[in-house]
Amino acid sequence: MTEHVRIAAEEGVLKLTLARAEKKNALTQPMYTALGQALARAETDASVRAVLLEAEGDAFCAGNDLGDFAAVAAGKLARENMTAFSFLNALARATKPIVAAVQGQAVGIGVTMLLHCDLVYVADDAKLSMPFVNLALVPEAASSALLQARIGYARAFEMFAFGEPIDGRTAVSLGLANAALPANEVRAKAWAAAKLLTTKPTGALQATKRLMRDAEALAALIAKESEVFSARLLSPETAEALRAFAERRPPDFSKFSG
Ligand code: COA
Repeated sequence: MTEHVRIAAEEGVLKLTLARAEKKNALTQPMYTALGQALARAETDASVRAVLLEAEGDAFCAGNDLGDFAAVAAGKLARENMTAFSFLNALARATKPIVAAVQGQAVGIGVTMLLHCDLVYVADDAKLSMPFVNLALVPEAASSALLQARIGYARAFEMFAFGEPIDGRTAVSLGLANAALPANEVRAKAWAAAKLLTTKPTGALQATKRLMRDAEALAALIAKESEVFSARLLSPETAEALRAFAERRPPDFSKFSG
């Protein structure tokens, strides 16, 4: 258990609140574990009719904790012990509808997890970015396929390669989110949507999700991406990127040739 994820069942909604605002809700191993277990509970608990994913503070999620990436890169944490993978699997296989409320920064897995959510509400000034390549890493969470399916190859490659953020309004125009609102209204809007979902026939919602999403194919792609991601984590390029973040300087990849 971790105090950095709050889990509460309210009126048919399982509310998962990221609560590590001082670190922009960067995800640690215990946080992934808690989120994965909560999603598994949602699947088996008949009283849960929708899941709400939200965050405390001014950021939704700054992605994977870079300290954990550094620990893997330094051989102090075995990649296979990273629990992100089990969280992503649970997300890929989830059949109960998931609603997300996104304010501020959403980075890396903070964005790719949204590709598995069914309704996404963003602050109009939210900043969504996937700087995997800037960290010398590769896309995960099946985003190597899901993002281009959603927004087209050209834009998807650009977002991965340059890692530049898009704002909430752009996210809506690209089809990554349902609506952009003032930041202080996003969580209430997402809650209302989750509540509305609880009034719908859950069996039909689950069957709809199963028809719209090929969970097995997604899980297989997540596993394939994870292998490449793990190898990249051990690369000298990634070591330089992580050192640069810790030292708050731009990385210098010029001495590496791939
Ligand atoms: N892992 C670990 N710590 C993180 C983090 C992450 N992914 N993202 C932010 N933090 C920490 C910062 O180190 C800082 O800690 P400190 O106060 O102890 O120094 C704190 O959260 C606040 O972050 P800060 O960078 O000061 O906030 P900001 O508003 O200037 O910038 C971000 C916010 C999200 C743009 C910036 O923190 C960032 O780029 N984070 C890394 C995101 C990333 O690359 N994630 C992995 C993607 S694959």
